[in-house]
Amino acid sequence: MSFLTAILSPDDEGIVSAASLLRASALVAIPTETVYGLAADATSKRAVAGVFAAKGRPGFNPLICHYADAAAAAAHVAFSPLAERLAVSFWPGPLTLVLPRRQGCPVHALAGAGLPTLAVRVPAHPVARALLAACPFPLAAPSANRSGGVSPTTTAHVLADLDGRIAAVLDGGSCAVGLESTVVDVSGNIPRLLRPGGIPAEAIEACIGVLARGHTPGAAPVSPGLLASHYAPVLPLRMDTCRARADEALLAFGAALPAALVFNLSPSGDLAEASSRLFAGLRWLDTEGPARGLRAIAAMPIPDVGLGAAINDRLRRASAGSVG
Ligand code: TXA
Ligand code: MG
Repeated sequence: MSFLTAILSPDDEGIVSAASLLRASALVAIPTETVYGLAADATSKRAVAGVFAAKGRPGFNPLICHYADAAAAAAHVAFSPLAERLAVSFWPGPLTLVLPRRQGCPVHALAGAGLPTLAVRVPAHPVARALLAACPFPLAAPSANRSGGVSPTTTAHVLADLDGRIAAVLDGGSCAVGLESTVVDVSGNIPRLLRPGGIPAEAIEACIGVLARGHTPGAAPVSPGLLASHYAPVLPLRMDTCRARADEALLAFGAALPAALVFNLSPSGDLAEASSRLFAGLRWLDTEGPARGLRAIAAMPIPDVGLGAAINDRLRRASAGSVG
């Protein structure tokens, strides 16, 4: 199969090519330990506008900025002692912190959707880290899928959504965590969990105490991307099933129920394995199901603890609507 988007290898040459494309405000999908990100020079209006256009993402939904290390992030946002503690404990890794922008922060306002805060993250993936070290600017990078769809965890997923819409993809294999980063708003007095993700909320609470959840009562929604139906496969999805119907494909966890088509997230019931396979499983069932005349996906129950809470969050959103 040939592609319009260049596939770069994750070696020195690929990283140099990716960095020079990014310097020219082009878009490059990059591997992170969570999911593939659609990276752009966060300081370039043209590059950031390109990200919104390539994804079909509404401009009110802000992007996460990726940095080589915490010191680089601290030059652009103001860390509280609490935020510092989280950064020391979980960076590099699948945690995003929402913090107040510093005056003179060079990240383009479009990337932050005009908000006074900025979401920042230091990823752990060695290829992402090498690329960040090679770029003299932070990388704004949402998940590298069409807006509303299922996040990509392989280069093939990225190309299925964005071939011809972006300059290149840096091929780093499969993403180990497989779920997006946990987003915590530490811009105010009370830390708030905005999105469960690759670091379990329990681990964050063990570090800084209880997190508030959901939106501040009475305040405007702070994380617009969390409102819409998201992560939606094409087939309708229903959760917590104890029996798959004849026209349903099964997303299994543990010992699988009988079904016409099964993708088992983890036969042994391991939540980390299930997380790493979730998006690939949804994409696979979405292609194979209709090919076999199936009309829906039924998902078996997943324990709502640790990474299971993030898996259930994604399944709830997937079941809330169709592709947007
Ligand atoms: O693992 C990840 O987080 C991946 C990789 C590529 O880093 N990125 C990712 O980005 O999932 P995205 O754009 O698909 O999701 C970012 C979420 C959105 O729900 C957005 O609304 C929220 O973070 N967000 C970004 N900036 C924010 C801000 N200033 N305040 C509140 N929420 C924000
Ligand atoms: Mg996304």
